[in-house]
Amino acid sequence: MSRGKKLVSILVVVFVTLGLALPVSNLVRGLPKSASVSAIETQDEAFAQARDIMAGKCATCHTSEGVMPLYASLPVAKTMIEADIKAGTDSLDLRKELQPTPGLPASEVAVAKIEKEIQDGAMPPMRYLMLHWNGSLTDSEEQQLTAWIQKTRGEHFATKLAAAPFANEPVQPLPLTIEADAAKVALGDKLFHDVRLSKDNSISCASCHALDKGGTDRVQYSTGVGGAVGGINSPTVYNSTFHFIQFWDGRAANLAEQADGPVNNPIEMASNWEEVCGKLIQDTAFLEEFKKVYPEGPSKETIIDAIATFESTLITPNSRFDKYLMGQAGALTAEEETGYHLFKEYGCATCHTGKNMGGQSFERMGRKGDYFDTRALTDADNGRFNVTKEEADRHKFKTPTLRNIALTAPYLHDGAAMDLTQAVNIMLKQQVGRSAPESEVAAMVAFLNTLNGEYKGQLLQ
Ligand code: HEC
Ligand code: HEC
Ligand code: HEC
Repeated sequence: MSRGKKLVSILVVVFVTLGLALPVSNLVRGLPKSASVSAIETQDEAFAQARDIMAGKCATCHTSEGVMPLYASLPVAKTMIEADIKAGTDSLDLRKELQPTPGLPASEVAVAKIEKEIQDGAMPPMRYLMLHWNGSLTDSEEQQLTAWIQKTRGEHFATKLAAAPFANEPVQPLPLTIEADAAKVALGDKLFHDVRLSKDNSISCASCHALDKGGTDRVQYSTGVGGAVGGINSPTVYNSTFHFIQFWDGRAANLAEQADGPVNNPIEMASNWEEVCGKLIQDTAFLEEFKKVYPEGPSKETIIDAIATFESTLITPNSRFDKYLMGQAGALTAEEETGYHLFKEYGCATCHTGKNMGGQSFERMGRKGDYFDTRALTDADNGRFNVTKEEADRHKFKTPTLRNIALTAPYLHDGAAMDLTQAVNIMLKQQVGRSAPESEVAAMVAFLNTLNGEYKGQLLQ
């Protein structure tokens, strides 16, 4: 053998040995386990099993503590694993999300996301499995995770209205009724439509959240008192009671806290509670009506309570899609049904999940794309960052509901998507990181058009 050839064979042997050394040593040592995920306490056996599987096979990249494999000390590997931990934890932080509060289950969104990755066989990523031959989920582990997902959904999130074959769908039918004090609701309805809540008696809540326009104003940005134009699209008030938090950036914890905002907002109603109460008290007929519900009369607290109670009844059950889930044959056309399957296949139902198809998590707009790189940034584009000032929250928005979506164009926080075709294409590119043929986009749009529900027994249109 020539010296050259010898050198080549030595190098080959060295590379093969090195190439095998890592995975073999990983195999022999077993996978590192996340102590913090393993430490999550539970009495629920299905959850305990799922927790232990994920502590070993997922937590390496899905907790910020970073359970580093041995090779992570090698220069190139270090950069790779650090990038995985950053992106993985950003998408799903198991330490926080498997049990957000002691005793409470994982969020419906986390459950849907894990379910989707398992169905796709996408996790752990291939490059990791090349070094961790025992890293992928075994069949029995997949079954255990699936059992935990179905149990969690059944016990905590399912509205129990779906027909048996749909009982475990990531999207659930909306509840048909909601309990609320009828007198408060009637008063809240009036206040919601009362222009005296604005400084110059020109604008009511309904000006920007018209109940006959899908609960929105159907313009990119709303106009407040004196023609002041806002910088963010007005979301629907229908089904907002199901949101985990209110506003695009979540700066109000609930509907009552939210209702305090617009009255005082200089570019919305530009008033204050003293002024509003002063006006209402002068109206003796209305005052009498008011006192029948709240003997103490109009105040910030009573007005807000009435409006929030009214808003909690703005639910829209019985959409054609819900009827399909409830087992009504022929409720959807073949194309619409295909659209729903594609909606799940492209992962839309992971964020737009549950009965309200959204409103349950903050998600980064443009997580797979360049949404904000192509235009000048506005203050509103910061999203959740404006509330927390944490860099990780920049461009994160509360996932909007897709209920009645056909009625609420234009779309997105910046009102930049004019129709559903555009919105779906933007979502595919920015949130899913894939593109879809035109026919599939059309099917998804057809599906989205079946989500109009009934308010007070009348189909919204
Ligand atoms: C080697 C690191 C690594 C391991 C191990 C790993 N993941 Fe991931 N995971 C990632 C990365 C990186 C992302 C972000 C990828 C992306 O956004 O494309 C991610 C994303 C996810 C997401 C979010 C997807 C979304 O749509 O937001 C889920 C859910 C997930 N992983 C579940 C799991 C589960 C379950 C396991 C264990 C069976 C696992 N992962 C193991 C690196 C890992
Ligand atoms: C001038 C237009 C305007 C008026 C008037 C107005 N809103 Fe809004 N509303 C908006 C905009 C814009 C947003 C989104 C703001 C944000 O997220 O930063 C919003 C958000 C909301 C939300 C949160 C929905 C969600 O998905 O997070 C609710 C609920 C709501 N408004 C109810 C009301 C009520 C009740 C009133 C009357 C007291 C009112 N609005 C008056 C424009 C208006
Ligand atoms: C990672 C989470 C995530 C995924 C996956 C996702 N979305 Fe969204 N979706 C969002 C967020 C967040 C917004 C709001 C973004 C904004 O306004 O900047 C949104 C907005 C929308 C809107 C506009 C809603 C409105 O009222 O303005 C539609 C329609 C929509 N998504 C449909 C889809 C479809 C269809 C898919 C699958 C192809 C999908 N989404 C996948 C998070 C997600």
